[in-house]
Amino acid sequence: MEHLIHSRVKNIEISGIRRFFNMVANRPDLISLTIGQPDFPTPEHIKEAGKEAITDNFTTYTHNAGFLELRQAACDFILEKYGLYYDSDEVIVTVGASQALDITFRTILEEETEVILPGPVYPGYEPLIQLCGAKPVYVDTRSNGFRLSAELIAPYLNERTRCIVLPYPSNPTGVTLSEQELQKIAELVKGRPIWIVSDEIYSELVYNGEHHSIAKWLREQTIVINGLSKSHSMTGWRIGFVFAPSFVTKHMIKVHQYSVSCTSSVSQKAALAALTAGKNDAETMRSQYKERMEYAYHRLIKMGLEVEKPSGAFYLFPSIAAFGQSSFDFALDVVNKAGVALVPGSAFSEYGEGYVRLSYAYSLDTLKKGLDRLERYLKEKQ
Ligand SMILES: Cc1ncc(COP(=O)(O)O)c(C=O)c1O
Repeated sequence: MEHLIHSRVKNIEISGIRRFFNMVANRPDLISLTIGQPDFPTPEHIKEAGKEAITDNFTTYTHNAGFLELRQAACDFILEKYGLYYDSDEVIVTVGASQALDITFRTILEEETEVILPGPVYPGYEPLIQLCGAKPVYVDTRSNGFRLSAELIAPYLNERTRCIVLPYPSNPTGVTLSEQELQKIAELVKGRPIWIVSDEIYSELVYNGEHHSIAKWLREQTIVINGLSKSHSMTGWRIGFVFAPSFVTKHMIKVHQYSVSCTSSVSQKAALAALTAGKNDAETMRSQYKERMEYAYHRLIKMGLEVEKPSGAFYLFPSIAAFGQSSFDFALDVVNKAGVALVPGSAFSEYGEGYVRLSYAYSLDTLKKGLDRLERYLKEKQ
């Protein structure tokens, strides 16, 4: 019966990050610097709010879009933090940013339309786009410090282009776009029949200045994706948000309703605590990530590796092109000979080939041990 599985589903693959992790996870004494989730526990007051929700029997379905107080808190949060104005009927609480992306693409993508993505990029977009019968079109950003720009986008625009994904701060590269860069993209796209899907899941983890959203200049054409997985160390609670004008959310809510009815009520109560009493919870984590980033960045530079200095998220993306191996072979060799796991860059599209991703969502102690091992390995390689 397997031949009756939909060809689009058969044609997509498990993410390269997971595949590599599953392959090497059982190796004894391995230091893994692969995982893209915070290593801090969820703040105590958020956990308490979740427990209270259970005790108070807040355990039934909520409004499909999330209960009103939470939606209002989400709107207040992004107004205060990023100057974005949305009404409570312009936000949907989703099952992580992942489901926000799924319902977004399913709401806006017709078959055969094209979606522009910067390469290298987070591997979560391509399969969702393909499941809609649409086509991912990669723009090589390597010569521009991994930053998508109006100049790079322009040659790819045609009558099939329906959407541009702006995933900044970026997983896997850690780079962000400046206000000017975002404004130029907004000017290029304004008035064309093209959506911007702005994945801002790392917006609270910016190390040099403020986070800016393109929605400030292009509200009517932008769908903003965000969530609490990274900012509040809540990956397992599965809370995401999608913000868009009401003429978008009124359609998107139908896809959401028939997909999940609503997000977990218990997680929603925890999310309310995160966005109100915990609206500055990310600060302490951010300062620790920054310290780790500075440490790991300088260690990689000292090893002679070429790497962009990140301005957000918790990843470094050094080039390993000088070693003449594929990123997969290099990463496997590092696992086998040095006992350190890094993600092969090829997991982030063909434009990630020649790089590896190092996550610094690990303690300084673990980072030091891992980087010591990597340094010894590279010395022996020379
Ligand atoms: C860029 C990006 N978008 C979305 C997600 C998914 O986030 P969530 O766990 O909230 O579904 C991730 C997770 O790693 C990510 O890196």
